[in-house]
Amino acid sequence: MSEEKSLTADILVIGCGIAGASAALEAAKSGLRVIVVTKNSKLEESNTYYAQGGIVSLGHDDYPELLKEDIVQSGDGINNPAAVDILASEGKKAVDDILIKDLKIPFARSAPDSLDYAQEAGHSRRRILHIKDTTGKTVEERFIQALKKYSNVKLLADHTAVDLLTIPHHSKNPTFYYEEPHCVGAYVLDNESGRVRTIFAHYTILATGGCGTVYLYTSNPRGAIGDGYAMAYRAGARIVNMEYIQFHPTSLFHRDAGGFLISETVRGEGARLKTKEGKTFMENYNKKRELAPRDEVTRAIYEEMTNSNSSYVYLDLVSYAKFDIRKRFPNIYRTCLEYGIDITKEPIPVVPAAHYCCGGVLVDEWGKSSLRSLFAVGEVSCTGVHGANRLASTSLLEGLVWGTRASKYIASHFNPAVSYKSSDIHEWYYPEKGEEVDPALINQDWISIRSTMWNYAGIIRTKKRLERARADLDYLRHRIEKFYKEVKMDAKVVGLKHGILVAQLITYAALGNPVSLGSHYLLD
Ligand code: SIN
Repeated sequence: MSEEKSLTADILVIGCGIAGASAALEAAKSGLRVIVVTKNSKLEESNTYYAQGGIVSLGHDDYPELLKEDIVQSGDGINNPAAVDILASEGKKAVDDILIKDLKIPFARSAPDSLDYAQEAGHSRRRILHIKDTTGKTVEERFIQALKKYSNVKLLADHTAVDLLTIPHHSKNPTFYYEEPHCVGAYVLDNESGRVRTIFAHYTILATGGCGTVYLYTSNPRGAIGDGYAMAYRAGARIVNMEYIQFHPTSLFHRDAGGFLISETVRGEGARLKTKEGKTFMENYNKKRELAPRDEVTRAIYEEMTNSNSSYVYLDLVSYAKFDIRKRFPNIYRTCLEYGIDITKEPIPVVPAAHYCCGGVLVDEWGKSSLRSLFAVGEVSCTGVHGANRLASTSLLEGLVWGTRASKYIASHFNPAVSYKSSDIHEWYYPEKGEEVDPALINQDWISIRSTMWNYAGIIRTKKRLERARADLDYLRHRIEKFYKEVKMDAKVVGLKHGILVAQLITYAALGNPVSLGSHYLLD
């Protein structure tokens, strides 16, 4: 790996899930020089990798208008109609052209010449393409394999983005102050050496995914801290709708399972939610029962748990499955078995978990943010597709469509007018003492953030709880900024600073919105 202190690219892509990888692939095809950074040591590690259910296409007797209706109904009507239109009208073609024809992704088939479409909550048709219950893994692996074939793409694992480089903010040259603010790349920490490198780019695409790990219980992998929201906010880009945090109704209830997801397709295939006493309850909340919108199922579970003072409910697949569970859900079967639960014989204990952020960096139909030269795609962005509550399995599709659109736009408007060099901007500041940080302190700060968010800014919110969260987080932010100023820079410190800011963004947004809607549910 190159040890150069500064690097230059036409496009810097931060994050390598489906959105970042689609952007990088499209840019690579158009011959632009691309650098992709991910903070993980494995390029594939991302939210996408763990996506189980699948990706929305159009099923039999299905059409874009119907998909649009489902998206808007799930989003409680506050979706951006132009963005919904793009997703519904371009989605299937993107799946066919990029995933099926180009990357040859082997989606499950019901017959040799017919794709198999799964069902999920809120969809009026079976239209989810899947590879059993490990869709994201295959999709992600195929993208990385494809990207490795391009000599104009540099893939940097183990590189944590610390801050976006903006002119004039980071500039040493006083004449730059007259320029319109714009993004020219990022400071990126090489996790191994502990040195911060400067990556200059004509365009920067944020594809850092979501922020589930600011909550105590989440289905997201540990890296989903929300780095992109924090960096974009500091750089001055508009961030919207952060109060709409979607909770997935069913993650495995087990101390060591780390929020392992029990896919909605399990309910799509007939599984029913039951109390600990074995009674179904969804019929008391919504006539669509287990296939009611995700936020409603989550709140119903929460209420049942609260009423019976229980830490979980059951998801019973075995009593309803008319198929071989091991074949349809091999990953869920295997993982549950590792934790001592045989889903072919017994119901699965489940709890809700923070799953998806419907808000983010506000972007237009091409992924452009309000800050010139900064784009955002995938979960970190807010196109407005999801409104107040995302429809299941639309996230991979949104990442694919907007990742590709962003790079198409850049390639057709490419204008490398100004190039910056290291001497134009401020050097990264390394504290003189640079002490190693005590992990016990970092852990405790994370526990405080996560419990505050779970208890006060979680599934059911009240003004009082949110005010308490704001006070606690403000104080914690102040402590974190002060305490970690002089420590040696590492990925954990960067993550903590981003995490506390993201928790504040969610809480302030929730406090600023008195209307209870979708995944922002206010009791009072
Ligand atoms: C799932 O498989 O339940 C997750 C799908 C999604 O969140 O879109």
